[in-house]
Amino acid sequence: MILGTGRAVPKRVLTNADLEKMVETTDQWIRERTGIERRFIADDKDTTSALCAEAGRVALQAAQLPAEKLDAIILATVTGDVTFPSTACYVQEMLGATNAAAFDISAACTGFIYGLSLADSLIASGKAQHVLVIGGEILTRITDWTDRATCVLFGDAAGAIVLGPGDGQRGVIDTFIKSDGRLTPLLCMPGGGTKVPYDVAVAERLMFLKMEGREVFKHAVTAMGDAAEHILTKNNLTAADINLLIPHQANMRIINATAKRVSMPLEKVYVNVQNYGNTSAASIPLAMDEALENGRLQPGDRCLIVAFGGGFTWGSAIIQF
Ligand code: UT7
Repeated sequence: MILGTGRAVPKRVLTNADLEKMVETTDQWIRERTGIERRFIADDKDTTSALCAEAGRVALQAAQLPAEKLDAIILATVTGDVTFPSTACYVQEMLGATNAAAFDISAACTGFIYGLSLADSLIASGKAQHVLVIGGEILTRITDWTDRATCVLFGDAAGAIVLGPGDGQRGVIDTFIKSDGRLTPLLCMPGGGTKVPYDVAVAERLMFLKMEGREVFKHAVTAMGDAAEHILTKNNLTAADINLLIPHQANMRIINATAKRVSMPLEKVYVNVQNYGNTSAASIPLAMDEALENGRLQPGDRCLIVAFGGGFTWGSAIIQF
């Protein structure tokens, strides 16, 4: 079950009006096509590990769990501090989680659901008792600020949950994860790995996130709808059995389409994309923490989460709070 949640965002805010001064765009275009109004962006000194550690610390406090009791830290990110070691290891050191295994997951915007699925399996198999799952990104470091088609979309944040053994009533009811590696070029950062080394990548401007927006949009709508429908059907549930749908916050139009696909009324859908933009792996745990804080999620509620991202990857989960 979820013992505690937390979130962290950088201090600096970038509004649509700010972006109007940077690229040829308008506040109206961004709002109409995405629903985004502002996003938080990191300063030069901010690191993904520090943001993730802050969110993790808050989640541990909420769970009233000392960091030494963690058996694992699973950190979902595509913007880790360095290629290796894992950002999770930096977070482990910052939290003093001396008994935890720590590793990263790369599943882009679906990373948190992948991490949740794995954490749930570790606990169910008896291999772990307490697992910290974090989704955290500084996407603005891989944003091409000259590309209006992508730079208006993303923001930086971290969200975290502490997972412990269920009590038979509360906990992760089910998870579903999928991927399709045939579509990698549609959403990726092409340079900076072993395929295109850094020096070449920098020279050819390949160290930035690239996205075929329209294509990704079509796949996201289908896959998020499929994932939400699949997990409901598999568990003999309908929208009426769900108190809150938390979809990945990439685009208001995708959120609306996902809700419609599973006949979920919009008042049961959590939306904060207007305030943060697309924060990739952070978006769902960030929204979950907010929803618990502002009362949209209550003890006893059943929550459906669903995401889609680069890879492509997609997935869903149902959690009983
Ligand atoms: O996190 C998971 C993965 N990501 C997503 O799920 C994002 C998926 N994609 C999307 O959300 C949408 O495709 C976007 C928001 C990225 C773009 O919306 P769209 O309705 O698909 O627009 P488009 O790419 O088809 O572009 C429409 C027009 C184009 O102009 P022309 O060719 O019609 O003259 C673009 O050049 O809008 C233009 N455009 C812009 N105009 C003003 C593109 N970006 C901007 C901009 N400001 N920032």
